[in-house]
Amino acid sequence: MKQIREEILLIGGGGHCRGVIDVIEQEKRFKIAGIIEKFAGESQAIFNYPLIGCDDDLEELRKRYRYAFVTIGHIKSNSVRIKLFEKLKALNFTIPTIISPLAYCSQHATVDEGTVVMHHALINAGAKVGKNCIINSKAVLEHDSAVEDNCHISTASILNGAVLVKANSFVGSGVTTKEGIVLEGFIKAGSLVK
Ligand SMILES: CC(C)(COP(=O)(O)OP(=O)(O)OC[C@H]1O[C@@H](n2cnc3c(N)ncnc32)[C@H](O)[C@@H]1OP(=O)(O)O)[C@@H](O)C(=O)NCCC(=O)NCCS
Repeated sequence: MKQIREEILLIGGGGHCRGVIDVIEQEKRFKIAGIIEKFAGESQAIFNYPLIGCDDDLEELRKRYRYAFVTIGHIKSNSVRIKLFEKLKALNFTIPTIISPLAYCSQHATVDEGTVVMHHALINAGAKVGKNCIINSKAVLEHDSAVEDNCHISTASILNGAVLVKANSFVGSGVTTKEGIVLEGFIKAGSLVK
């Protein structure tokens, strides 16, 4: 019997959205109903998924759709991601956790709502990831590491055992950390953090 997939709205139609679409397609849990942009008509359809409204339409769209997910990226600032996440919560959308079937997420790890775990990321035993985060492709969160809310752990970065990343941080591509340290703020791509 064919499984009926729930429909989901994606909020933000830029480059990160394209990556998340690929994860959702592979996960096969949701059917993408369409993309929401800041202003109507701001972008074309993405991979044949239509632009179906702007931020101001979300209240009306909530009557028809239960699930929504923020697909705006985070490098310089996460303020738009946070604003939209809070708007979705206020409108009582269900914001899922989206995990690529190509990622490994330990059954002893937790990942909170609104967080996407992209292809080939690895979240090891005892790790905790907060709300509204991006755990990008090939990132490694070693055992007992913790990532607080609204962080972006970029592509191929390595958080070694028991590292804590404080809320609202950006960890650039290819960052490597010593074990057991605390990171906060903007960590440049390629840094070794001790
Ligand atoms: C790649 C990088 C090391 C380049 O360094 P650089 O050429 O010496 O330039 P800078 O360090 O001055 O910063 C360039 C950009 O990084 C970002 N940046 C740097 N420090 C920042 C800080 N403290 N807070 C927020 N953004 C910052 C800004 O986007 C800045 O853009 P701007 O020049 O328009 O302000 C560094 O900018 C970086 O880590 N960027 C993020 C790359 C990345 O990991 N992307 C994630 C892909 S998943």
